[in-house]
Amino acid sequence: MTTLLAATMLAGGLNAASAAELTVGFSQIGSESGWRAAETSVSKSEAKKRNITLKIADAQQKQENQIKAIRSFVAQGVDAIFLAPVVASGWDSVLKEAKEAKIPVILLDRDIDPAGKELYLTAVTSDSVHEGEVAGKWLAKTVGSKPCNVVELQGTVGASVATNRKKGFDTAIASASNIKVVRSQTGDFTRAKGKEVMESFIKAEGGGKSICAVYAHNDDMMVGAIQAMKEAGLKPGKDVLTISIDAVPDIFKAIAAGEANATVELTPDMAGPAFDALTAYKSKGTVPPKWIQTESRLYTAADDPQKVYDSKKGLGY
Ligand code: AHR
Repeated sequence: MTTLLAATMLAGGLNAASAAELTVGFSQIGSESGWRAAETSVSKSEAKKRNITLKIADAQQKQENQIKAIRSFVAQGVDAIFLAPVVASGWDSVLKEAKEAKIPVILLDRDIDPAGKELYLTAVTSDSVHEGEVAGKWLAKTVGSKPCNVVELQGTVGASVATNRKKGFDTAIASASNIKVVRSQTGDFTRAKGKEVMESFIKAEGGGKSICAVYAHNDDMMVGAIQAMKEAGLKPGKDVLTISIDAVPDIFKAIAAGEANATVELTPDMAGPAFDALTAYKSKGTVPPKWIQTESRLYTAADDPQKVYDSKKGLGY
């Protein structure tokens, strides 16, 4: 550390662990969706803003790769580890190793099982049960008393956000006996699988005429489903209602074209609040709350989708 830097830090009331000196290892899930790509890109720019060295390991959707990456970050002696856990279970041993090495772990965008609570410093996530509830309430309000058969495209099996988005949606429609989820299957959060699974739903539902709405746990799967519906001669956004989660630019393009109806926003900026919490923890010993919650907001065609599309483009997407 230079004398000048040390003097500046003392004047600023910081101890030896200022943001400028931090190295953070980030075990990222992969690049399964537009949202994920944006999160990676925003993480890089938020690190740059704060002069933090960020080492990103892309796990290509595999928990075993995330475990290897965490072990490698521990061996390198990084100052902290960010983890976007692909699934909720199976983290105990590796997170204990990080804890023993006194390396704080911060979860980004997904949770791990509650038993692992003592193994991480804080989690920066949305309330994913609430996201599902927002989606379900929107649908219930939109269809009113009309009978409505819903097909659901679930996220990655075992991911906290997939479990919670399903739970929230089911709770929100529980008292609406006219709304029924008739088919529900994973599309693994990808556009290609969303399309493939939607094609099978359409086939199983006699060409899709009996489908009133599609609920997808993310926008990418919905974009794939929209393509499948159009190819089958259905009119998504008109004959078939759509509700999904993320608020990526492509869904606003579809809403503007009248081919999608609504989305619940998930900010891709999970790293910014995580870096702030980490810096305060390292420099002043401030222990963050166990959960730093990001906001969830519903968007529909009433929200000037073209304008939202224009404003989102370039924000890491
Ligand atoms: O964990 C957040 C989810 O992961 C996003 O909703 C989805 O697009 C991504 O793959």
